[in-house]
Amino acid sequence: MTRYYLTTPIYYVNDRPHIGHAYTTILADAVARERRLMGDDVRFLTGTDEHGDKVERAALARGLTPQAHVDDLAPIWKAEWDALEIRYDRFIRTTDPDHVAVVGIALEGLKEGTAPDGRPLLYQDAYTGWYCVSDERYWTEKDLVGGRCPECGKPVEEIEERNWFFRMSAFRDALVEHIRENPGFILPESRANEVLGFLREPLADLCISRPVERLAWGIPFPWDPGFVTYVWVDALLNYVTGAVDPRAGETPEATARRAISAWNEHPADVHLIGKDILTTHSVYWITILMALGWGLPRQILGHGWWLWEGSKISKSTGNAVRPADLTPVFGVDGLRYYLLREMTLGQDSTYSYDSLVQRLNADLANDLGNLHSRVTKMAVRYLDGRLPARPDAGGGGDEAFLASTAQRLTAGEGGGRVASAWREWRIHTALGSVIELVSATNEYLERSAPWKKAKDPAALRDVAATLLHAAEAVRLSAALLYPVMPDVAGRILRSLGRPAVPQAADLVWGILDGEEIMAGDPVYPRLEARTA
Ligand code: MSP
Repeated sequence: MTRYYLTTPIYYVNDRPHIGHAYTTILADAVARERRLMGDDVRFLTGTDEHGDKVERAALARGLTPQAHVDDLAPIWKAEWDALEIRYDRFIRTTDPDHVAVVGIALEGLKEGTAPDGRPLLYQDAYTGWYCVSDERYWTEKDLVGGRCPECGKPVEEIEERNWFFRMSAFRDALVEHIRENPGFILPESRANEVLGFLREPLADLCISRPVERLAWGIPFPWDPGFVTYVWVDALLNYVTGAVDPRAGETPEATARRAISAWNEHPADVHLIGKDILTTHSVYWITILMALGWGLPRQILGHGWWLWEGSKISKSTGNAVRPADLTPVFGVDGLRYYLLREMTLGQDSTYSYDSLVQRLNADLANDLGNLHSRVTKMAVRYLDGRLPARPDAGGGGDEAFLASTAQRLTAGEGGGRVASAWREWRIHTALGSVIELVSATNEYLERSAPWKKAKDPAALRDVAATLLHAAEAVRLSAALLYPVMPDVAGRILRSLGRPAVPQAADLVWGILDGEEIMAGDPVYPRLEARTA
């Protein structure tokens, strides 16, 4: 079995999930399900980022210790993901003891190591700069825009202190070479070019500590308790910790060692992230791994933003659209489908309530739901629910066309068009192709009009053949939509006498012969446009 390890960013625990966060997590879940469907041994990691200034300040404001504060918040994220049918393998929290141990080992490793030019990887120096609490990022004077944070536009704080530095500058050439020699390492390609553009400027060293007098809420430096680890270094290492699950009775150090070996044996296949955290992932993270001599992830995929009326959806701009506001109306599967169908991976997408209603009505209520309900109802009415064992006659002219369309989607090199679209991160196209099959099947039914033929007993064999072909197209479409809409797909598959969770062997044409089917409830209701 091929192993496939994928990760989402770990989310700042202070926030509550909005559809931007939900997008990355749903994307990861759908990719995980698609890989599992294809037979891969998948590991899917998500979690929460729990240290740093912002958390410490928020805890203080609530009169709680930071630990009590994060213990209160992390379950909210878990519950949100559970409600969206996210099936992760581990939910990591950066306060987990095995993670604290991994960070300690990584810091010791850096302290002992030397850069390619022979100088130590870590050194102490005075730090002066500007700090943005909101982004947990340090900026130099020249980075600031109008005296404010260049990322979020908020005010920054001037800071002067002694700190530990990582000699990141010594890895610039190696990083440039790695990006150049591995097309597809950073995706989409435009983002790889952005990073290469950034690397044309000299690369600074990275300040990786904070003095405890200023920030106590972090992972202590193993050899110097006067410092805690910079939250981004702590957070990025979650990907290593998350390579395994802690075992009962094992010490955190033992789990951490096991995680580091597991990572080096098989680093992440992909880090799914938003474009705003591309530099931290492709520059900080990769150079830290290079310095430690640990394995590098195979891909970093930076997706675009969900926008609302032209600006990025976020808590701080007050335009956060939350999954829980939408799922009571659109269902979990409706939201999952919309987010993955509307966004061209890598580009920004605009969210609107109307586009949500339109998309779901067109694709799910009209095309898919309608087809499923017609086919199952007619099969029950005209065939007593039993599909023919073998189509004895043609059904109306284009069953060969339908079968070949379905075959193009599922068979051939790389598992057909849908599988290759998934592999190439064209998920919206994968979904679009399935809906094309659904529409073609609806048109086929219109042309062969089994409801007319059924009045003539001599034509019943034709009717049965048509319904078999149409049911086959419904079944295959549901199996292909399963990674994105596990509930809707499962209900369709069960009504066709198939298991709710499809497997790779189900992705072929022609396995419904002789199957007994049921007319169930509509799989997706038609939605009304908002009147208010
Ligand atoms: N904690 C860091 C990540 C550390 S990973 C080692 C962080 N957290 S975050 O909660 O602020 O953001 C997490 C992810 O959500 C980022 O990938 C970010 O791009 C994504 N999104 C936040 N708002 C978004 C949209 N409006 N649209 C799409 N994704 C966006 O950064």
